[in-house]
Amino acid sequence: MNKFFNPLSYSLISQKPLRLTDVFGWHGHIPFAFAVTEMLRPRLLVELGTHKGDSYCAFCQAVKSLNLDCLCYAVDSWKGDEHAGFYPKEILKELRSHHDPLYGSFSTLLEMRFDEAVSRFSDGSIDLLHIDGLHSYEAVKHDFDTWLPKMSRRGVVLLHDISVRHQNFGVWKFWEELKENYPNFEFIHSYGLGVLGVGEELSEDIRAFLSMDKDYADQVRSFFSALGSHAAQKHLPENIEPIKAELSKNSENTDKYNSYLLAFAALDDSEEVKRQKSKSFSYQPKISIILRYGSCVSYRKMLKSLPS
Ligand SMILES: C[S@@+](CC[C@H](N)C(=O)[O-])C[C@H]1O[C@@H](n2cnc3c(N)ncnc32)[C@H](O)[C@@H]1O
Repeated sequence: MNKFFNPLSYSLISQKPLRLTDVFGWHGHIPFAFAVTEMLRPRLLVELGTHKGDSYCAFCQAVKSLNLDCLCYAVDSWKGDEHAGFYPKEILKELRSHHDPLYGSFSTLLEMRFDEAVSRFSDGSIDLLHIDGLHSYEAVKHDFDTWLPKMSRRGVVLLHDISVRHQNFGVWKFWEELKENYPNFEFIHSYGLGVLGVGEELSEDIRAFLSMDKDYADQVRSFFSALGSHAAQKHLPENIEPIKAELSKNSENTDKYNSYLLAFAALDDSEEVKRQKSKSFSYQPKISIILRYGSCVSYRKMLKSLPS
């Protein structure tokens, strides 16, 4: 039987991100960066497109916290591009001042074009590749096709910006093609993140993550979206820890049920839930936990989907 994917089993999801700059496009995916690093436990991790390092430093933070035996590489010209904008040399200097003392023992910033860096890696060696360079269809297809042979048998590729359809962004279009050929999962929030299992021997945790049924996948999507918005606002742990404590007291909770609860809990109070809270319903205890701590814009839909 397939392992069941339980987001709560990943110890890092409630960690505070140590690097949040004004390049915020990736912030909403930081809890997932922590989780996927824990799911995969990579030995070699590469990012294409790093800019100020918000995504890359999240991966490094996870590698360091888990004490993984993993080498990490960030590849960027550190000049910018037509979508990210062009920027001065100081950006890399400032990133180094944060990165080097924390992660310099296992991580290297490669200041070069992606195509120049590729020959530094052996075929079949990269476990986790994050592609976040230029976002035109041609560029992302070129980056994926060029780096695919480097992916290991456990390999997972992440593609940012799969939800963006303006300018000449084309990751969404390339993603539509990739989805046909590999097990995958997509996040819609924070410009979208595609998760693609390209290896033939994916880890058990990754297989569980990529094979959730649709309804549960929707809950997991809301869960990480909610966590992501809190991560971006730097107040993640306060919300999560009391819920974990509360749930651990309740022996009736299943894994699946826990993550439903957390999806609620991680979201800010909506007007809908404030109204419900003020009505003093005689809910079963599990519902009152939700109302006490949580809320959700899709509140009614979530209530209906709770296991009875
Ligand atoms: C969208 S930004 C990366 C954002 C980053 N991942 C974050 O978390 O904020 C894209 C970066 O890719 C770099 N880039 C784009 N195409 C490149 C290429 N072919 N070679 C090297 N760097 C490239 C740009 O310099 C830019 O810094």
